[in-house]
Amino acid sequence: MTVLSKVIAIDGPSASGKGTLALNLANELGWAVLDSGAIYRLIGLLADRLDLLDKEEELIARLRQFNFRFEGGRCYIDDENVTEKIRTEEVGKMASTIATFRELRKAVLELQRGFRRPPGLIADGRDMGTVVFPDADLKIFLEASADARAKRRYNELKNKGFDVTLPLLLDQILERDKRDTERSVAPLIPASDSILIDTSDLSIAGMTKRVLGLVAEKDLV
Ligand code: DC
Repeated sequence: MTVLSKVIAIDGPSASGKGTLALNLANELGWAVLDSGAIYRLIGLLADRLDLLDKEEELIARLRQFNFRFEGGRCYIDDENVTEKIRTEEVGKMASTIATFRELRKAVLELQRGFRRPPGLIADGRDMGTVVFPDADLKIFLEASADARAKRRYNELKNKGFDVTLPLLLDQILERDKRDTERSVAPLIPASDSILIDTSDLSIAGMTKRVLGLVAEKDLV
């Protein structure tokens, strides 16, 4: 019988702190990370370039002609390094648009499950605990007010040199939340067995400590 490696699923809306928390936990535990949002962002960027943001079948067929690579926190489409390009809020919107495609989501399921490896995986996304890893050993659902998340995203993008404004980012985040939670396929909802953590007033260090406490309680390491 194959024993599957452990998984910690971290889901939540955009800018709730999932990515940073996932990286911190991975560093502390020496586990691998799956940034599933990056997969949807790569596909969204390609869909936009190919003018296929509203054509699911054609998009799935064309995707087979490209090679996606994820290496040490960098992402590539064939030989093009798109790590920074996929981080804009515009690409976030493209990702959230193609993420409503049912067959496309099925097509990327195995790619995501392929990140599972010993000693364990921290999986960050919207449907990690509900669809991709329903058997995850620990499921965390992060929440934070839209204002707190917009401020976080503003600081993050400003630091990367992007030209952004807070009111526009808040609108974009609310629009993306609506699309991600209201879609019929794998909507953003907490798994029934997930632990909810409100991160509005929590520092990254505080969040990490809290989850490491849960990891210890569950004897995961
Ligand atoms: O986490 P992120 O902001 O990088 O994700 C970008 C978009 O991708 C998000 O708005 C919805 C989609 N997504 C998804 O549908 N399912 C996931 N597991 C991860 C992301």
